[in-house]
Order: sequence, then structure tokens, then C-alpha cells
Amino acid sequence: MCGIVGYVGERQAAPILLDGLAKLEYRGYDSAGVCVFFNKQLHVAKTKGRLAALGEMTAQGSGVPGCLGIGHTRWATHGAPSKENSHPHVSTNGKISVVHNGIIENYLFLKEFLRSAGKTFASETDTETVANLVEYHYEREGALFTAVKKAVAMLEGSYALGIVCVDDPERIVAVKKDSPLIFGFGKGENFIASDVPAILKHTREVAYLNDGDLVVFSKDSVEFYNTLGERTEKVPEHIDWEITAAEKGGYPHFMMKEIHEQPKAIRDTLKNLTQDGRVTLGNIELTRDYLSGVRRIYIVACGSAYYVGCLGKYILEKSCRIPVEPVLASEFRYSQPVLGEDTLVIIISQSGETADTLAALREANSMGARTLAIVNVVGSAIAKAASDVIYTCAGPEIAVATTKAYSTQLLVMYLLAMYIGDIMGTFKKREYDEVFQALQALPALISETITQERLAEMQACAARYCKHHDVFFIGRNVDSATCMEGSLKLKELAYVHSEAYAAGELKHGPISLIEENTLVIAVATTAELFDKTMSNVKEVKARGANVLGLTTENYREEIAKTVDSLLTVPKTHPLLQPSLNVIPLQVFSYYVALARGCDVDKPRNLAKSVTVE
Ligand code: F6R
Repeated sequence: MCGIVGYVGERQAAPILLDGLAKLEYRGYDSAGVCVFFNKQLHVAKTKGRLAALGEMTAQGSGVPGCLGIGHTRWATHGAPSKENSHPHVSTNGKISVVHNGIIENYLFLKEFLRSAGKTFASETDTETVANLVEYHYEREGALFTAVKKAVAMLEGSYALGIVCVDDPERIVAVKKDSPLIFGFGKGENFIASDVPAILKHTREVAYLNDGDLVVFSKDSVEFYNTLGERTEKVPEHIDWEITAAEKGGYPHFMMKEIHEQPKAIRDTLKNLTQDGRVTLGNIELTRDYLSGVRRIYIVACGSAYYVGCLGKYILEKSCRIPVEPVLASEFRYSQPVLGEDTLVIIISQSGETADTLAALREANSMGARTLAIVNVVGSAIAKAASDVIYTCAGPEIAVATTKAYSTQLLVMYLLAMYIGDIMGTFKKREYDEVFQALQALPALISETITQERLAEMQACAARYCKHHDVFFIGRNVDSATCMEGSLKLKELAYVHSEAYAAGELKHGPISLIEENTLVIAVATTAELFDKTMSNVKEVKARGANVLGLTTENYREEIAKTVDSLLTVPKTHPLLQPSLNVIPLQVFSYYVALARGCDVDKPRNLAKSVTVE
């Protein structure tokens, strides 16, 4: 949420900034702007709304000439989306311009202080305080670098900042704490950005800035400073993603592309975390000695990642016989969890930057628990802060609603279960080998779940049900956890109210909501509980519900007798079945969203990376 791009070089900055910001659209935004240095002045263009509006306003950047600039996409936190509140913000005397991702928590105090020093404010934002604070120090120190250092020392909260000064036409200063920022090494040009896709077209050599890092750069020089103000060196990390990996690659939407990338994401993650028929989990080491002392595992995450945790409870408890508790990160941090050396806290996050999840992780660290992060973005804040990290290899996920990252996180749940269960002797060798073999076949089975024929069936179901306003997802055991993800997908993508219930719970209240034509999506793939779920299906049918069933191929005929519509998935080893079950629910929501005219890649009010509490 919020995207930053900065450029200095010999080319025109504005088109590069606009293009980079477009690559960061996935982070979510409601306004955008650029500030470019030209003819001894800072020229700002900004507007509420989509980047297309900013492109139009600036003639795709050519209306704002100059070779040094900063750009920003804003996701409103302090003050409504508006031109005034958009970044870049310029200080009272026009000396300093700033773009910011994060929240300055003490901005009201600073605003008062700056007002009494004669500074004025044109917006409701916390960021404008930073612009004025840097100017305040600049007027006393006469040097941008020192002014930024002094200003940053007064800030409380989170920030990635790109700062330019009208008297310093060749340099950009950037600094970060608790919000992501990378530096891109170019030839005769340099960059900053919130994320790699923004600059991948121009350079593959990047440095991930640490909290407290400050960088001063021109087109042909760069100086890094650590939190103590000491000069440091950064060795560039080479990014080997294909450029097309960050673009749509022929699909109508990023989400559909990412749905189709799931087999590859699973294959890549498997390759990274297994070797010679064994689960290795990369570099982490959980010894028998350590695991014997673990009394409880918490799985802490937000949204879909939390629903992976809900599945993880079933998967890990069954295979490892250790109590597992999934907890929402936003609740965990304020719930005084009972933690200590005998607790393993597993943190799941695609972005590795989710503010609530990061805070929960820090809480767990400070209470002496061992923390294990499952993260997709290499070098992200969560990856850095955890005791151990397992990387999913989903590649960049651009659509706001997660699909392939969810699938790789779920894969890691199986792998962890096998790894821990094997060490603890609770996962028997025969089953271990069977599951390992089934894992190799999983990518092909996912491809089989999204053949053209099956996609057409899902689309037909979406067409049939897209006008429903209230939907219930029901299932038992792992199917109930899959229902939670299915329900979230429908809410976030298609703006349809839906609820997920453990099927057995219906008669304890929610069944009173079932009336003629209410849509119930019943997930029934768990063999031991199939009949029980079918009883619940009959209960809702008897009250007039319209039931869409989702089951495995082998139950097709049996379930078809009862439900109104049916989607099936191939059958795999029962432990891995949730990986196939979720796919039709992703696709169904995608098509319902399209049928309702929704923006599937960028649903309203949502951000990809939720870096504020
Ligand atoms: C839903 C979705 C969100 C994220 C959640 C956590 O489709 O994408 O619910 O799962 O915001 O994000 P990460 O995994 O980046 O911590």
C-alpha cells in the first residue's frame, strides 16, 4: 500500500516514474503524483484517482520535463483521497519535496511544533509534516543530508521516504523504517522503489534497505548509511525474475494468470524445499531435541494466510500430534498470548510486510518464542525479523486477491507436517513416501483442475449464481477451512456477502437464514465426513436452498442426485486434497466478479500489502 519510485539519470524522469508506479498498482492506491526537478524548480503534478488520470494530466510524463524525480501512489490513511492529500508534498518555502509510505504517529505533535516555527500546511496528511520538518532543519543546517538525519530522528512511526531539495538538483535522499524500500543500481542512473517490479525494466541489481538505512544518490554515485549514521556498503542482489513474470503474459487479468501459475509455483517451492525424496525445508533446522520441548504451535497471519493457518491446524495436528492454534495477527498482538521457549510461532505472509503480522512476530520474539516465517518476498521485514524463514517460490503476486501465494503457503503446511512428523515419529515412513509421491503429481493435478472444459463449467456456475446477494459456504474438517477462503474470495472480488460455516454448526443458528433460493456452496471432499456433510446439504435443500456442490471425481454421481449444480476436482492423497479444492472457488469468484463488472485485480478498498495497522 502506497508505492514509491525515485529516479535520477540522463533520461526523462517522469515517464520512468509513471511506468514504475504502474508496476506498483497492485499495492493499492487512490491517488498518484510525481515531482520532477527542472529549471531550478520542483514541478509537482498530482491527482486523485487512477494513474491513467496522472498520465493524461502530464501528457504521459512529457509535460513534466527533467531528469530527477520522485513519484508516489497513495492509499489514504490520514485525510481522504484528494489532490491536496496526494504526494509528493512540498514544504512551506518550496525547498523540499517528499514521498512517503507508512504512518508518522507523532505527526500532530510535530505539526504544532512546526506551526509555531512558521510552517504552514495545505493537506491533512502526516507526510506534509515530514516535508516541513526537513525544511525546518535544512534552513538551520544548510545541508539536505544532515537535515534529513535530524528530521528522521524526530519521527515516530513507519516510513519509507524519498526526498528531494530544490537547492540540490542532482541528488535524492531516501530513508526507511518498517516500510519497504529498495535501491536499484543502474549505469549512469539510479533508482529507489517500494518493490522490484517498478524498476526491473531498468536494472536487475538491487539492495534491500534495512530499517534505519539512509541512502544519498545521484546518477553516478551512491552512499549508504546505517542507523548510526556510519557509511556502509551494500552488495547488489541480482534479481532473476523474468520481466514478464511481473506482467500479465497474455491473460486478461493478473488473477487469471496467477491462477494458472499455481502448478509452477508449487513445483518451484517443492524443488526449493525438498531433496532426494526428503523434505529439507531449505536451511532451517528443527531438531528432535527442540521439537520434543514444543508444547504448542501458534500459526499467526491475516486474511487468506490465516485461512492457510486454519488448514495448517488440521494438517499439523493430525500428522505431528502437537496442539496447533491459528490466530489472527491483529488479535494475537493484543491478546497476551502465553508464549515461551516451549512455543513455536509460525508466521505466514505473502508480502512479508503486513503490519499486524510483523507486530505479532515482534511480540513473539520479545517473549522468547522461536519464530518461523513462511514468506514469499525475499528480504522483506518479516523474513528479516523471524528466527527462521521458509520462502515460498510463488514469484511476484500482483493481483490483490491471493491465489498462487496461498497455494504455496498451503504446500509448506504439508511439508512442515512431514518434516516434523518424520522427526517425531508420528508420520510413518510408508505414508511419508506416499505423500511425497503425491506431491510430485500435485502440479499436474492442478493443471487438470483448470482445463478449458473445467473453467467453462466454473464460468457457467458463476453466470447462474452471479446475482445472488447472500451465499453460505459449508463443509467439515479441512473442507470448512477451505470454505473460509472461498467465502473471502467471493466477498473481496465480487462484493457478495457470504459466510463460511462448519456444516455441523448450521443447525445451531445460521440455518434460520436459509430460505427459498438461498445459495449454499457445499464442499464435500473428506471421505470420512462425506455422508455427514450430505445430511447437512439435505437439511438446507429441504428449506429451499439452491446448492452448488464441490467434490472429488469419485463422488460425482452420488452428489449429483442431491445438488442443483456441481463442480468436481481430481482426487489426490487426502492430506493434499485442499490444494485442489480451493481452485474452483478461486475461479468461481473470479467469474462472478467479472459478471458483476468488478475490477478483479484491484478490488475496491483493498490493498495488496497492508503496511498499516
Ligand atoms: C486475500 C488476501 C489477503 C492477504 C492478507 C495477508 O485474497 O490476499 O487476505 O492474504 O492481507 O497478506 P500477506 O500474506 O501479505 O501478509
